[in-house]
Amino acid sequence: METILVTGGAGFIGSNFIHYMLESRAGAIKIINLDVLTYAGNLENLKDVSDRPDYEFVKADIRDKAAVEKIFKDNDIDTVVHFAAESHVDRSIENPGIFVETNVLGTLVLLNAARAAWELKDGSYPDGKRFLHVSTDEVYGSLSDPDDYFYETTPYDPHSPYSASKASSDFLVKSYVDTYHFPAFITNCSNNYGPYQFPEKLIPLIINNALSGKPLPVYGDGKNVRDWLYVEDHARGIAAVLDKGRLGEKYNIGGHNEKENIEIVHIILDTLRELLPDSDPRKELVKDDLITFVTDRKGHDRRYAISPEKIGRELGWKPETDFASGIRKTIDWYLHNEEWLAHVTSGDYQSYYDKMYGQR
Ligand code: NAD
Ligand code: TYD
Repeated sequence: METILVTGGAGFIGSNFIHYMLESRAGAIKIINLDVLTYAGNLENLKDVSDRPDYEFVKADIRDKAAVEKIFKDNDIDTVVHFAAESHVDRSIENPGIFVETNVLGTLVLLNAARAAWELKDGSYPDGKRFLHVSTDEVYGSLSDPDDYFYETTPYDPHSPYSASKASSDFLVKSYVDTYHFPAFITNCSNNYGPYQFPEKLIPLIINNALSGKPLPVYGDGKNVRDWLYVEDHARGIAAVLDKGRLGEKYNIGGHNEKENIEIVHIILDTLRELLPDSDPRKELVKDDLITFVTDRKGHDRRYAISPEKIGRELGWKPETDFASGIRKTIDWYLHNEEWLAHVTSGDYQSYYDKMYGQR
């Protein structure tokens, strides 16, 4: 039985990863989910697995050295999959400090706790111990040549405080590999979409606003390009790296699905109109003239596009969900989970939204 410590498992990708692993590997793994439950962490995402004997939740902060060390002392952790982070670029522009604290210093605490628990006297590590650091393609910066892609060898050039903090944490992990032979992988994934994504990110924000007839804020000219991957394909990519990846290596994860933001907004509006029955009063609200071009994001990266050639060639991974079916599944999920949406968009989210979009 492999014991996997998942950090940030109550967030968007972490909760999808936990679902994927418990469904596909039941009986072979136990998951411990370490999460402090910030605004982005939501145990509702995991209510269907919360009573399982192979799943345990521990409320703790990755910056809290004693709490993290205790988890390693109380459990024989084989694998760490490290998702916990502050993840939203716009918030990092408003408040960079927390991004350094969580993403950089929190990662340092985890690396030290894992190393202290795992390293043998001769500096080696027992077989089967590994740390997978989940990162982003945003560390590579912005592509100006339309034919270019991010490769694992592309030099880091982060622009936002978010991507700078993720780049710093990637370098820390790499330094532990190089200095201590620490058994780690780094994965750099493109933009994810799917169920349980907090509606501050583009796709769920547009779905949520369209369903309530609110303006759909498009930054700048709407022509910035992101490379979208269905979240379960990301989970499968991480699992492939854990199964077959080479320790010390980094792997890009993405599915060659580049789209301009404005195209995404139109696809969402069209899909909502198609999926909503005529009898649903929300259908009336879904109108193209809700689209509102607003002041651009500061330092807005123009284009991200990832080459997943290495993970395909070495590990045989490729995405299974194309965008047309993934976006339908996602929108359908939001339509059937109104209560989840209502819970996460009440309270703090409202004040965030008013502050962030009131000034654009
Ligand atoms: P998210 O914001 O939805 O979830 C982050 C989770 O981390 C939350 O559950 C939160 O409570 C938890 N957390 C935050 N600070 C913590 C702390 N100090 N201690 C313990 N837990 C803490 O993020 P996400 O979109 O699921 O992203 C997960 C990871 O994947 C991040 O590392 C992010 O950089 C990376 N990533 C995200 C994307 C994307 O498109 N969302 C793409 C590539 C990589
Ligand atoms: P986002 O989902 O925040 O992901 P990231 O910035 O990490 O790529 O944004 C995706 C793209 O959508 C990005 O180019 C910014 C843009 N965007 C808008 O145009 N309007 C919005 O309200 C949001 C949140 C994002």
